[in-house]
Amino acid sequence: MARANGKVILLGEHAVVYGVPAIAAGIERGVLASAQPADSSSLRIGERYARAADESELGRAFAALLAALDAPRLAVQACLELPPGSGLGASAALGVAIARAVLSASGCEPDAARVQAAAAAWEGVYHGNPSGIDAAAAAHDGCLWFDRQSGPQPIVLRRDLVLAIGLADPPASTKLMVEGVARLRERRPEVVDKALEGIRALVANAKLCLEAGDLPGLGSLMNYNQMLLSGLFVSTEGIERCCALARDAGALGAKLTGAGGGGAVIALCDGTAQAILAAWQGAGIDCFGSSVRARAAEVSVAK
Ligand code: MEV
Repeated sequence: MARANGKVILLGEHAVVYGVPAIAAGIERGVLASAQPADSSSLRIGERYARAADESELGRAFAALLAALDAPRLAVQACLELPPGSGLGASAALGVAIARAVLSASGCEPDAARVQAAAAAWEGVYHGNPSGIDAAAAAHDGCLWFDRQSGPQPIVLRRDLVLAIGLADPPASTKLMVEGVARLRERRPEVVDKALEGIRALVANAKLCLEAGDLPGLGSLMNYNQMLLSGLFVSTEGIERCCALARDAGALGAKLTGAGGGGAVIALCDGTAQAILAAWQGAGIDCFGSSVRARAAEVSVAK
């Protein structure tokens, strides 16, 4: 059985599309996938089913992934442990887990570069122009620095990160949210470029906080990142409310994660995870806890 992580973006989503670095971390929930030789290639994910020859989006993404791996005909099954479309990297985790399962069933080594290329082909069908951060986080353990030019680099954490993850609002399409920021940049380049430079500075400082174990500092930077994301119109009332509830319950910082427009909020906890999860549950927000271990961050990204 092949596996891939879901992810959170600690800081830098959207800006990463424009070449600004971002910081992501794999989370425990992810995707499991397996593959067996078959007469024709098919993919089942829970209730969803597609053939590689389908015109459906799922069928086209599957066909693109199989073509990138030059794979034989396979029947693939995948199981999602993540809510889809919520900014937790479900789509990229599917791409990575399915690519690993396909390589294993084809008798090939799960070569990291081939898995990344296949996951990028899969993601391209859904997102048009993904930065690649979701697929990188799905394929690697621990915390990552990522930029479009140099790809993923591990960040060695001084302390474990404990996160509360709340599903603030129904999911939105990543493609549409990314296009919305691109349209805003066409109309108001000075506003967007100032926000991107602000995010660049926050991300650089967040790396120092992670390496030094300065969690209060990291939390403040996450809060500032959320303000800049609101200025890009990718936040929602539900996201703002979810962040405020988390901060009132003792979060060191809280922000949307992923494309926004709905979906998930992450809160950085310091002995306050239970209080934050209880506050969200009390407000009818689906939520769960996750952690990023300092030890896992030492695992090399070149696996
Ligand atoms: C989506 O998880 C993150 C975005 O920055 C898009 C991307 O990087 O491809 C919004």
